[in-house]
Amino acid sequence: MKRTLGFKDYLTAAELTPAEVTSLFASTTALKKEPGAFRSVLAGRSVVMLFEKPSLRTRVTFEIGIARLGGHALFYDHSRERIGERESVHDYAKNLERWCDAIVARTFSHEVVEGLARHARVPVVNALSDDFHPCQALADVFSLRERLGGLKGKRLVFVGDGNNVCASLMILAATVGMDVVIVGPEGYGPDESVLRLARSKATISGGSVSLSHDPSAVRGAAAVYTDAWTSMGWESEAQERRRVFGPYQVNADLMARASDSALFMHCLPAHRGEEVTDEVIDSPRSIVFDQAENRMHAQNALLLGLMGSG
Ligand code: CP
Ligand code: NVA
Repeated sequence: MKRTLGFKDYLTAAELTPAEVTSLFASTTALKKEPGAFRSVLAGRSVVMLFEKPSLRTRVTFEIGIARLGGHALFYDHSRERIGERESVHDYAKNLERWCDAIVARTFSHEVVEGLARHARVPVVNALSDDFHPCQALADVFSLRERLGGLKGKRLVFVGDGNNVCASLMILAATVGMDVVIVGPEGYGPDESVLRLARSKATISGGSVSLSHDPSAVRGAAAVYTDAWTSMGWESEAQERRRVFGPYQVNADLMARASDSALFMHCLPAHRGEEVTDEVIDSPRSIVFDQAENRMHAQNALLLGLMGSG
């Protein structure tokens, strides 16, 4: 199988064209339905995983996912020393490309993952940086498609912090033609540049991207998505954020204002009692564990698209 994606690195989610999303979702479905057919597609290939921040889902889904394709994942714990400290990001990338076939990196600074991508000859996948979480977005939009079928014109409302998860999600959802609404307090919205990028995708797909400070904007939502109010790296602001985001908690009242059938989504880990109540996350509308499962299938499709097989 040849590489099917027209770019080397997956860093934001903006790399994907609508046609590439369709083809990635077709392979995600195949990987999910017939895992046996892909047992040795990455045989003899190695992926290095560099993680500066903690992880459950991303680490486990990449490690198990790569093993299921017959490849080898090497986990490198970078929690005590940032990439680029002991030696330059350039030299780091130039070493790694001699040994491995792809790099998966979870970093604080987005520039570090960009640097690895610029300097390494092998594909680099962003496994979450301060600014983007593109693997999460792939699993999320795939999970939405599983539940809703066609996504064009469906309303996806992200409630909370305009963070890394929000950034990649809005870009990918706009790419597939959804009407994306970001709802949160003033001063915590997505970056202007990300907004522009997502809107340029929406112009092509016929979707839209809008902002609101009013929680009632969940009205008509096919899905309501939230994430932590305080992301990894912003812990010193946690108390202030709990105060500012309080009115944006996704609880039964808020879900009742959406639509009777609105799905609930969260990338996890969830802070129960903060951004979401038990009642909502444990309800039949919640698809959070589908999202978590689909991380593995979507990432495997991505790796095959970037690396090819054999
Ligand atoms: N959603 C997600 O990326 O989870 P982890 O931080 O546990 O990897
Ligand atoms: N926005 C969260 C996502 C965790 C998966 C964070 O960056 O901590």
